[in-house]
Parts: sequence; C-alpha cells; structure tokens
Amino acid sequence: MPPLHSSTQHQPPLRLLLDCDPGLDDALALLLAHADPALQLVAVTTVGGNVSLENTTRNALQLRQYLGFERVPVAAGAPAPLARPARSAAHVHGEEGLGDVRLPVAGAAASTAHAVDTIVDTLRDSPGDVHLVATGPLTNIALALRREPRIVEWAASFVIMGGSYTRGNATPAAEFNIYADPEAAAEVFAANWNVVMIGLDATLQAIATPTIVDRMRALGSLGTEFAVPLSTFWTDPNDADWPGQAVHDVCAVAYVARPDLFVSRPALVRVETEGEYTSGMTVVDFNAADPDAADPNATVVTTVDVDAFWDYVLGVWALVAPEIDDRAAHAGERTRG
Ligand code: RIB
Ligand code: CA
Repeated sequence: MPPLHSSTQHQPPLRLLLDCDPGLDDALALLLAHADPALQLVAVTTVGGNVSLENTTRNALQLRQYLGFERVPVAAGAPAPLARPARSAAHVHGEEGLGDVRLPVAGAAASTAHAVDTIVDTLRDSPGDVHLVATGPLTNIALALRREPRIVEWAASFVIMGGSYTRGNATPAAEFNIYADPEAAAEVFAANWNVVMIGLDATLQAIATPTIVDRMRALGSLGTEFAVPLSTFWTDPNDADWPGQAVHDVCAVAYVARPDLFVSRPALVRVETEGEYTSGMTVVDFNAADPDAADPNATVVTTVDVDAFWDYVLGVWALVAPEIDDRAAHAGERTRG
C-alpha cells in the first residue's frame, strides 16, 4: 500500500468544516474527516436533508461522541429549504438517519451558535485556511453567503457532494442534495467562487462492493458494527444485479485530503429551479472552458481512482479503529438497533 500521505507528510493538517445531513454516508465521511491525520475537522454544521434537522443534529452529536471528536463544535442550521417544503430521504437512510445503527445517547449538546454563524465566523477567523465541505442540501451555505458574501474569499476551497451531469437519483434529472433545495444551490453556484462539484457521475464509482465490505469487516467493531451496517443498509447482498451502496459523501472529504485520487474538468454549472420535471437539475456546460465561453464556476469531478480511493479510505479508518473499539468496549456500547 502506498504511504497514506506521501505528499503531505510533515505538513500541518488541512482544516475543514463539514456541513452535513447524517445520513449513512455523511457518517462515513465524518469518520474519514476525523481519522485522517492529514485533516483537522474544526466544526460540524447540520442541515435538514436526509432526515429532519432534529435527527441529523442528534446523529452528528452521537457520531462525535462515538468516533471521539468531542472537542469539535456541532452547530445546527436550517431545518427546511429556502423556499419550498422539506424533502426526506428516510426511505434510504432510515427514519433515524443512520440505518439500523443505534449509537449511544450523546452526553453533550449542540453549540448554542447557529450553523450559519459558525460557518461565517470559522471562515472569517482563519481566512484562506479552512476548507468548506458540504454533503447535504446547500441551505446553510446559501444563508451564510447571504449573511457574509466574503466567505467566498475566506474559504480555502469549497467542495460539495451534489449534482450530476448525467442522471439524477431523487428524480431522473436531479441529485438529492440539489433537489432538496434548488434555490439554495442556484445561489451557491452563482456566488463568486469555484465549486468543486463531486456529483453522482463520480460518487457512483465509489461503491461498497462485497469485496470492500469484507475489507471493512477487518476493522474490528468499527467495521462490523459501524461501517458495514452503514454501507449495506439498503442493499441486498443476495441481489447479484446490485453491486452495493455508493459512499457518496466520503468522496467529498477524500477530495480535500487526496485530490490526486480524482479527475475533474472546469465547467459552468447552473441549477434549474423552475422545471416541472427538471427542478434541481445541475446543468453542466463543459464547453464553458472554451476561451470565448462564459467563465467556468465549477470544477466537476468525472473520475475516481477507485482502487486507490478504497486503499486510502480503509487505510485511514484502520488508524482509529483500535481506539474506537476500545472506547466502545469500555463503555459497553452497542451500536446495532
Ligand atoms: O445523493 C446523495 C446525497 O444525498 C448524499 O449526500 C446522501 O447523504 C444524501 O444526502
Ligand atoms: Ca449527505
């Protein structure tokens, strides 16, 4: 296995704020953000998305305690989209949001600060130093831009799991995170920054196949009681036609630490907000890179080096598996409902 961070050894960790809606794959993304020594998770903000804000925030607090990043603030944000009723993906993530994984009740509460204030203040306090990553609907990000447009200057980078330049998953045209709040996504892509868009075209390459699931099992109870059930909640291992679940959100965090694992192209991305059948569609114009075209506003990821991605992710998760197992064993914690 290549060195995990050959390009980043002896460099200070890359700092990131993760805005998320945990969520099966958001939970796995948080594990990566916490576990990678090349990354420093400085704050977690939650948004209503896969499940209610109450549930995404409770899940984030329980994940913080179970995974062991207790000193990282968790701040709750928008319970609903900017201009339309809240969507849900409980049919995918379970009513609670973490499938059948049941983590111990969190002993600490969320921050009293709102997620939007946390995003703005974190970026303002460390201009150019914190990578902003979003793996849920973009409501908090849009509200932060409204409150303080200068976050486009302060964010070291802005990476989302969202969108698609081919097919959707919430509808034939739209990916869930964009579909859930198209107005927010439209404002976010129209702001004066470059959006690294890791959409379904890329994330559907990052599948937890049976072979990958077997490698997760080797992580001890972090594998068998956490990563495996999160990665197999709605897949039928007996269904030969279904290769496994995509770990969509893990790709967004992985991009910050290991952009070398991904291939991308510049594009002009606009979000459909009016279409009867296409609301939430990311309309991706790769020709925008042409000199005489409108300036690109996004870096759209097209390809994942899948083998190297999984070697990286599983190798990083293995770094923290013993301490998480020990903590869970000493607390007599069970994670399966
Ligand atoms: O379409 C996949 C995205 O929607 C992921 O972020 C998943 O967690 C859901 O929020
Ligand atoms: Ca998500």
